Amino acid sequence: MAIDALFKPFEFKSLKLPNRVVMAPMTRSFSPGGVPTDDVAAYYRRRAENQVGLIVTEGTGVARPASLNDAKVPRFHGEKELAGWKKVVDEVHAAGGLIAPQLWHVGAAKGPDQLGKVDSPSGLSKAGGNPFTEPMTDADIADTIAAFGQAAADAKRLGFDAVELHGAHGYLIDQFFWPGTNVRADKWGGPTLGERGRFAAEILKAVRAAVGPDYPVIIRLSQWKQQDYAARLATTPQEMEAWLQPLADAGADIFHCSQRRFWEPEFEGSDLNFAGWAKKLTGAPTITVGSVGLSGEFIAAFGGEGSQPASLDRLLERLERGEFDLVGVGRALLQDPEWVVKVHEGRNGELQNFERQALGVLY
Ligand SMILES: Cc1cc2nc3c(=O)[nH]c(=O)nc-3n(C[C@H](O)[C@H](O)[C@H](O)COP(=O)(O)O)c2cc1C
Repeated sequence: MAIDALFKPFEFKSLKLPNRVVMAPMTRSFSPGGVPTDDVAAYYRRRAENQVGLIVTEGTGVARPASLNDAKVPRFHGEKELAGWKKVVDEVHAAGGLIAPQLWHVGAAKGPDQLGKVDSPSGLSKAGGNPFTEPMTDADIADTIAAFGQAAADAKRLGFDAVELHGAHGYLIDQFFWPGTNVRADKWGGPTLGERGRFAAEILKAVRAAVGPDYPVIIRLSQWKQQDYAARLATTPQEMEAWLQPLADAGADIFHCSQRRFWEPEFEGSDLNFAGWAKKLTGAPTITVGSVGLSGEFIAAFGGEGSQPASLDRLLERLERGEFDLVGVGRALLQDPEWVVKVHEGRNGELQNFERQALGVLY
């Protein structure tokens, strides 16, 4: 398969990407006190110097006391924190790259640190069980929506090229989508995805109002949850449309469709993956992700499993058919800042295995 499909430019609103490769957001916990360091800026700069089309940063916390559960994950509020991010943007731009922050709120997901009162729809960290904390009040919800809007305004002011909202993997926004963690009886809950998606839609409206019509807004979504890999929000294309269309209407431009293995079909009777269906149903550009260029998937990597380089042929076929527009690459780029250049130049013998030790280093 010709690699060219991955190296066609992509334009959307103010975003002009030289190729289709998006560095997937990856939490690195190298920002003590929540402030991105010079080492973090240099880590992103190395990817920009080596042809990554768009860098999506690690998840970074919006201005709520417990938006993060790890004190070494960067925050996206506060003077020192935003000055750290400004340095990241400037380094990436100096190397000719483009970058979007992934705006994050972990909700009731547990981590190494408890940094404040937990926000969550119903006080549940997973489906079943008993609430371990109070549900968010209307005031908490309004403040959280405003915090995402403020973060998006700050991203634009600092010079970021787009923003991404983390609406996936069982964190706060996804805790609202998922009936397992959202049992609210007010307007933020309900039996349909449209109802449980109101929180995300209100965040998107606040973000859109903050950044204006031409600024690209990406939302990352997943069916699977870190609490339950088999969970599914939409079991039919109709349900998926009822989930995604209101988000597009509220201001989402690009859907970043997170799968653990990009080749897995989303619904029976078609080999379209999640990004394929999202594009077909909404007409919006989409990003696929999940085990691109590697033999094993990322959850196993946390357990210590290494992965070897794998063929890109199946991916290129789908990209060429227009199933999706952009390709998220996680671990291959965490391991090797030069992954895109090597793929572009056909230096396949130089592609690296993904090794667990890479998680502890900013290569
Ligand atoms: C170390 C690590 C940290 C991650 N952190 C995030 C994150 O902050 N936000 C997010 O949406 N996904 C996160 N992910 C998931 C990746 O963005 C990506 O979807 C996943 O690794 C699959 O892509 P890959 O198979 O190319 O690695 C993380 C993955 C890894 C390996």
